[in-house]
Order: sequence, then structure tokens, then C-alpha cells
Amino acid sequence: MIKDVDGNEYVDFNSGLVVLNVGHCHPRVVKAIKDQAEKLIHYSWTDFYYKPIIDLGEQLTKITPGSFNKKVFFSNSGAEADEAAMKMTRWHSRRPLFLAYTSAFHGRSFAMMSLTASKPVQRRHFFPLVPEVTHVPYPYCYRCPFHLAYPECNMWCVDFIEEEVLQKYHPPEDTAAMFVEPIQGEGGYVVPPDGYFQRLKKILEKHEIIMVDDEIQSGMGRTGKWFAMEHFGITPDIVTVAKALASGLPLAATVAKEEIMDWDGGSHANTFGGNPVACSAALQVIDIIKEEKLLENATRQGAYLMKRLREMQQKYSIIGDVRGRGLMIGAELVKDQETKAPATDEALDVMNKCFKRGVAIITAGKSTMRFAPPLIVTHEILDAGLEVFEGAVKEVDSKLK
Ligand SMILES: Cc1ncc(COP(=O)(O)O)c(C=O)c1O
Repeated sequence: MIKDVDGNEYVDFNSGLVVLNVGHCHPRVVKAIKDQAEKLIHYSWTDFYYKPIIDLGEQLTKITPGSFNKKVFFSNSGAEADEAAMKMTRWHSRRPLFLAYTSAFHGRSFAMMSLTASKPVQRRHFFPLVPEVTHVPYPYCYRCPFHLAYPECNMWCVDFIEEEVLQKYHPPEDTAAMFVEPIQGEGGYVVPPDGYFQRLKKILEKHEIIMVDDEIQSGMGRTGKWFAMEHFGITPDIVTVAKALASGLPLAATVAKEEIMDWDGGSHANTFGGNPVACSAALQVIDIIKEEKLLENATRQGAYLMKRLREMQQKYSIIGDVRGRGLMIGAELVKDQETKAPATDEALDVMNKCFKRGVAIITAGKSTMRFAPPLIVTHEILDAGLEVFEGAVKEVDSKLK
């Protein structure tokens, strides 16, 4: 719950910007921040180590997928974590090219604008960007970019990457890495079909292209597993983490296979990455997720939220699709179930009505309502928020008829 300056209370379906996975101001996080602030607020981690950064590095190598040796690079934001992965993979492979997805979001620095392809406004008037990124269609089955249907399509969208991109104009031996969101976040909470990432990983392995798994929005337990890619049964080469890592303090990490992070000292560095106060908060976040069994709660509450939204979908034709994993769920609004025309204005109307009535929720993609409450959420709070949401949907839906 959050309270505004006038004392109004809101159910927080956003977790801030998908940051407060252990809730707002968890007492253990607050205590760790205070305790660390009294001991050491800064030292230059690229020259000297301190205990919280070592402990957190160790923890991150344990909770990220893959039992191989890993190295961790710390920074302050999601964009920086992905940018470190971009520089690192180019440095390691000596290959210049990258692959990313349409509708992807990886941040807003110049290099990240090159990977991001979610909305024109994010790039308009900023060109030229960092060159050498090719975008391929994300497996968005509800709106298949190839107008095919799963599973009869036999996942042409994966073969397309091999047959139409790598074999025709994007030489694999010049391709350093592919950036992947396991569930597309800003793009609309889009979940790829089963088997998709297995097929993709095989292609990438065949060509020795590094898979960078951007878990900045989907990680730290959001989907009921530490990292969303675990749902799809493959192990990426690099995982990037930010947002929920330090419960609201700026902190990000690029966790890579040991042999990939082989750049020379001085190739990449920063001043504030891995700040000791932020690392201490992050160590608590990891412990809280384990001790309060928040992966289990995210799975349980997510199943309930999904069931309630699917019931609403039966009643209101404006809800075209409901999808997600754990507590990362999208309800896509459409003007018409047949044409699937995105109900963009209507989604904003639902969002504003919810806000005025005590529920903080925002949209993703063109018209998807995104549900990303803290992992500590209870049935009662979900019910309270969903009652308001359903009221807003009902009104907007009836206006469409
Ligand atoms: C998947 C993903 N990657 C990267 C970013 C960029 O993170 P930041 O805003 O901390 O730079 C975001 C932010 O929303 C994100 O959702």
C-alpha cells in the first residue's frame, strides 16, 4: 500500500517501477541501509574491495542460472548493466554485430537506444545511434508478426532468424551477442511459447553467439523463480539484473560466464557501481526472498491473479488476452476480440480510473494493463485492487458497445 500527501491510500500493482519486490521500506532493508551508512558509504570498488560487494557477488553467482564459474560487474542502472554486457561481448568475441528484438526495452543510453525498439518516441530525434544492431520479431503469439498460429507455425519465428537473417545478411561469425528479454516487459508483458528459447539457444550455440538474458524487469523472483528464463529450461551466458535488486537503491549487475568477462583491467569501470549501502540492501533482499518464501508466494498469488483476470476476460470482451508467469501478468485490452485492434485510449482510461479510485497500475505495450505487485502481496490486497480494476474495466467496456 502507498499513501499520498493527502493521506489517500493506493494498492500498488506496480511495485514502484517493478522495483519493490519485497515491499515498501521492508524493515530489514531499512536497517541494513542505516547500519551500512554508519560504517562505509563509498569506496572505489574498481580499485579496492569491501565485504558487501564480495558477499553480493557470491550470492548473485549462486542464484543466477548455470553452475559454471561466473564473474560479476556492478553498476547503477539497468541500462548500464546491459551496456556492460554489450561492451563485454564485443570485446570478448571481437565480433561487431548484435541481435535484439522488436518491441524490446533495454534502456535509454545511446547504446541501449540501439537495442531498444519498443516505441518510436524513445528514439525520435536522437539518431544516429550506436550502429550494428539488427532486430528480429519477438514471439508474440497473440499478435504473431508472421500472422501464423502456434503450434502449427512450428515456430517459424526462430527459423526466420537462422534462415532469413543469419544466412542472408547478418553473418553469424560477425555476431557477438543476442539480447533477450525472457518475458518482454515494456513491450507488453509478452510470454514466448514453450520450446521457443530452447530452439533459439541451439542456433546461438551453433554460431557461438552469446545469449544475454535481460532479467532487469523479470528477475529477483518476480515470476516465481529467481530468474524468468528458468521457466524455459535453458541457461543463458550472461544475466543482467537491476530494478528489484536493492529494493529502490540504484544497483545493477552483469553476471557472466567467467570466460566471457575476460576484458583487460581498465576496459570498463565506473565510480558508484556496487555501492556498499546498496549492496547491503541487496543482500537483505535475497535473504528476505528466501526466508519469507516469496518465490512460492509469487507463484501462488500469481496463479490466483491469473485466474481472476481470466474470469474477467470471459465477462468483458475488452480483455483480449491474459498472460504471464508468477506476478508478472499482462491483460491486453482490445476494441474488438476479432480484429484485436489495440484499445490504447481505453487502457489509459482504465489506468486513470483505477488511480482515482485507489489502485496504482500502469500500461505496457500499446494497450496492456500490467500487474506487477510486490511479491509479499496477499489475496486480500489483490482482491481489493481487482475490485477497483474490474469496476473500471466494466465501465470502459460498456462504452465500447
Ligand atoms: C527489461 C529492461 N531492461 C533494461 C531496463 C533499463 O533499466 P534502467 O531504467 O534502470 O536503466 C528496463 C527498465 O524498465 C527494463 O525493463
